[in-house]
Amino acid sequence: MATTAILSALAEEQHGLLALLQDARMVKRAGRSFWLGNLHGQAVVLGLSRIGKVAAATTATSVIEAFSVQRMLFTGVAGGIGDGIHVGDVVVATHFVQHDLDASPLFPRFEVPLYHQTKFECDVSLTGRLFDACHATLDAAFRRKSRETPATKPGVHQGLIASGDRFICTALAASKLTAALRAADMDALAVEMEGAAVAQVCHDYGVPFAAVRSISDRADEQATRDFQYFVTHVASHYAVGIVDRFMRTPLTT
Ligand code: ADE
Repeated sequence: MATTAILSALAEEQHGLLALLQDARMVKRAGRSFWLGNLHGQAVVLGLSRIGKVAAATTATSVIEAFSVQRMLFTGVAGGIGDGIHVGDVVVATHFVQHDLDASPLFPRFEVPLYHQTKFECDVSLTGRLFDACHATLDAAFRRKSRETPATKPGVHQGLIASGDRFICTALAASKLTAALRAADMDALAVEMEGAAVAQVCHDYGVPFAAVRSISDRADEQATRDFQYFVTHVASHYAVGIVDRFMRTPLTT
């Protein structure tokens, strides 16, 4: 049966999704536990990408090889590095770049050797659906919350996300990264450690891919503390709300 794979980087991000899963059963592949089941009557497989590009690429490859994966969705957290991206906002990826890939002078900095490309594009139709699900989820959460206390409405953004095997946790590292990407004509909104690897694997297999990251920190000196708080207390609620809405109507792409 055509299955939607839903990957998360961390167990904290995944546990709410596991609670939603109907007819759940666990299958092991490549040392990973995958959960098969249904969400709103649609076949899904949930998996943990683990952290970093290699681990995420192995997870993406094994889930595609083992199950009839027709599309892939990634939910997780990221550090906000773009102007106007705040903790609590959500970024839906349109493209991914590996910010730590540099085979210059053989290839231009950031270009993936032999692919003749620097960025991997997400599937336009899935991404649009994900963007709508994010808006609806955050609007509903904001309406609920602002009845009790004054609240700021979280932003929903769409754009480039940069991935690399590094937790960015100083303002200097974040601004150097932004400047290097800008020098190559790229403006990244957020930074994380897996998405570009999963996007590349999906490209190789022809599997449509979409990704959403909630912003846990600003990749600065407070990033470690903010990240830990967000992952423990907030990330799972975002993932559950967004995925639940995303899966509510039958997927055709
Ligand atoms: N994921 C969440 N925050 C991050 C950061 N600051 N750097 C890299 N990955 C992240």
